[in-house]
Amino acid sequence: MAVTIQQLIKWKQTGRSIISLTAWDYSLAEILDLAGVDLILVGDSLAMVGLGYDSTLPVTLDEMIHHAKAVCRGVNRALVVCDLPFMSYQVNLDRAIEAAGRVLKETGASGIKIEGGHPKMLEIVRELTAIGIPVMGHVGLTPQSFRVLGYRQQGKTEKEANLIVDHAVALEQAGAFSIILEHIPQDLAATITDKLAIPTIGIGAGNKCDGQVLVTADFLGLSAKQPPFAKSYVNLRQVITSAVEEFTTEVRDQKFPPA
Ligand code: KIV
Ligand code: NA
Repeated sequence: MAVTIQQLIKWKQTGRSIISLTAWDYSLAEILDLAGVDLILVGDSLAMVGLGYDSTLPVTLDEMIHHAKAVCRGVNRALVVCDLPFMSYQVNLDRAIEAAGRVLKETGASGIKIEGGHPKMLEIVRELTAIGIPVMGHVGLTPQSFRVLGYRQQGKTEKEANLIVDHAVALEQAGAFSIILEHIPQDLAATITDKLAIPTIGIGAGNKCDGQVLVTADFLGLSAKQPPFAKSYVNLRQVITSAVEEFTTEVRDQKFPPA
């Protein structure tokens, strides 16, 4: 059965961890979906892991939609959520509605994700939810703000931690159906997870969240470099390199294709 937003909230209530990974193309998405991933995020990390940019800032809405369509073609069961990229929602509410509307209309994704919890974002969450577009929040380290925040852990001071809690609570009140907690201390993530009725999905936020997400390029060991909190469950760089070496040898020795 296809995963719904209501199901995610039920899983939080029953303590069943939500399994989430990112995807940016059809074949990966199909494998992840068949393997039982609950929530597939078409993250704007696509900019870095799929398109080779230095940050998430350059990726466009058209590119996100292009990749989200590919992902959705591969998915039957998982809930697919697509990031709204930098500058597709921050300018004004109308632009945000148009961007989110395009994602739902054109891709088959069930919801969108935006970063941050300041009043402008809360207004977007309220309006999108009101018109039937589910929104996932994202607090802590928000990579679209790296020019201001850097990539360091957020919420280390009490003041910073309180602000993150306030943002998370406000996002829930505004109607967000779930929230990403990125690169914050474990205790802070646990506090937020306890406070909220909606599921928290952690990345670099300790093991007390309602679910965990990894960027699939990191998870598979495809990335040349990855954040300190990521874990590779397989080294696909090595697997692929060995395969190329074997192919090279067989072709040079005229062993492939066989005579
Ligand atoms: O873009 C992304 O992959 C994300 C996840 C790390 C949450 O936002
Ligand atoms: Na993202």
